[in-house]
Amino acid sequence: MSLLKVARMGHPVLRKTARRLEPTELRTAPLQKLIDDMMETMAEYSGIGLAGPQVHEPLRMFVAGIESDDGRLKVIPFINPEIEPAGDVMEEDWEGCLSIPDIRGRVPRHRDIVVRALDRRGKSFEMALHGFPARVVQHETDHLDGVLFLDRMESFTSLAFLDEYGRFWARDGGEDDAL
Ligand code: NI
Repeated sequence: MSLLKVARMGHPVLRKTARRLEPTELRTAPLQKLIDDMMETMAEYSGIGLAGPQVHEPLRMFVAGIESDDGRLKVIPFINPEIEPAGDVMEEDWEGCLSIPDIRGRVPRHRDIVVRALDRRGKSFEMALHGFPARVVQHETDHLDGVLFLDRMESFTSLAFLDEYGRFWARDGGEDDAL
């Protein structure tokens, strides 16, 4: 496995619409290696999610740490994800992004979603998510459409550098991991 270079805001790859993956393509060694490398890169930089375009691969895929019912964090690859809001409730909370280092801001997101995707073997699965994991999946899916969390903010008044976020806002229920 190897660490991948993370694209930062301003790199055009982050603003492209990523293309869907064919199941046959998914089952190839380079794609399987890319998934492993994305998991390793996400862990190295203490991320909780990492999308293809963030590692210069404009493909509709991301990896994300999703907490299961027993409280354990499992890193799951999502290929060709489609999300659907489940209900109208919007919630605002803190987000960061590995492509926008050391910045945090409050972003409104759907509290509840259903995500449908392919797993790394090309098998389809569906997951109902609530709260923070739903936020992570919405943030990562946005990356596949060239959207960054700043685009989703209703106001920039909450924007903070990581140090100041830690000093003044971290106890406000926010999660520290970048997406
Ligand atoms: Ni991000």
